[in-house]
Amino acid sequence: TIRPLVLGIESSCDETGVGIVRGTTLLTNTVSSSMDEHVRFGGVIPEIASRAHLDAFVPTLQEALHEAGVALDDIDAIAVTSGPGLAGALMVGVCAAKALSVATGKPLYAINHLVAHVGVGLLDGATGGAVPGGRLPENLGALLVSGGHTEILRIRSITDDVEMLGSTIDDAAGEAYDKVARLLGLGYPGGPAIDKLAKQGNAKAIRFPRGLTQPKYMGTAEEPGPHRYDWSFSGLKTAVARCVEQFEARGEDVPVADIAAAFQEAVVDVITSKAVLACKENGITDLLLGGGVAANSRLRELTGQRCDAAGITLHVPPLALCTDNGAMVAALGSQLIMAGIGPSGVAFAPDSSLP
Ligand code: KG4
Ligand code: ZN
Repeated sequence: TIRPLVLGIESSCDETGVGIVRGTTLLTNTVSSSMDEHVRFGGVIPEIASRAHLDAFVPTLQEALHEAGVALDDIDAIAVTSGPGLAGALMVGVCAAKALSVATGKPLYAINHLVAHVGVGLLDGATGGAVPGGRLPENLGALLVSGGHTEILRIRSITDDVEMLGSTIDDAAGEAYDKVARLLGLGYPGGPAIDKLAKQGNAKAIRFPRGLTQPKYMGTAEEPGPHRYDWSFSGLKTAVARCVEQFEARGEDVPVADIAAAFQEAVVDVITSKAVLACKENGITDLLLGGGVAANSRLRELTGQRCDAAGITLHVPPLALCTDNGAMVAALGSQLIMAGIGPSGVAFAPDSSLP
């Protein structure tokens, strides 16, 4: 099939996603989130997420088929996230996909969740038409920033050549937002709350550390240090905790808005400066931004400014395609089929730490 009709299934974290694409055309993207059930715990509880996937899968599938106006029989192939992610959560989606494949005889493709975050940029219009005809720009990079990942990737070929240039060595950026929001008493998920509060604060009131930026980690372009393109956010989280403690020890009001703004500036500054450096030193001319933290107003602003200054074209898909969803899984599955790559079969296991 030249333009295969592909059903994509995503269940790596708290979103049950079913998306359907035809070739590079998005037909539907249906997502059911269990976030509400995790809020009171201040983080995603794997067991609850797995049970929620089990409840949500069939209704989400039915809604997606209905919205796209297709029957299961019409589908050419099924694609499913096989990792990385929460093991139990992945198992629900993978098991459902295998069952569908066996029952319908449709071929099954195991999909790397991180590569799918990039593959979504190939859907028509996903990046404002900047990727015409579903063809990737030649020197493409991707900056993925979410609750589970913070990585800069070079994409030579979406189907078989994705290289990780750098990543966080501890917490993901979204995780840092969530932890700091908890410290500041802002609730969960913390990203949107900090984003909003930071607008009322003075980012220059406090200077928080930018992790892994010392010369011993950075090295030089000729002799790169061990973490030139890597990030670390756990020290920043500790610095925020110390800062709050100091205000409290002095019996002063904690300037929550200033701390939120200064924390956000530290995160966004180091993410964008290292991402742009990696692009410049690796000949990357086009950068795709993805992940839930791509919703952050300051990250979008500073990435845009620094890419402009460096002559890099920035592509930002709509938010519903940036956060976890099934359409991105279907989009990458479709690319694999169009590239002539064969299915995975049904013998593969989910891999929670898939690289
Ligand atoms: O991609 P995503 O929906 O799920 C994961 O794969 O993790 O990302 C969720 C993360 C959460 O940590 C949330 O706090 C963060 O994205 N987030 C934000 C914003 N909106 C969501 N972080 C900063 N600013 C935002 N506006
Ligand atoms: Zn994700």
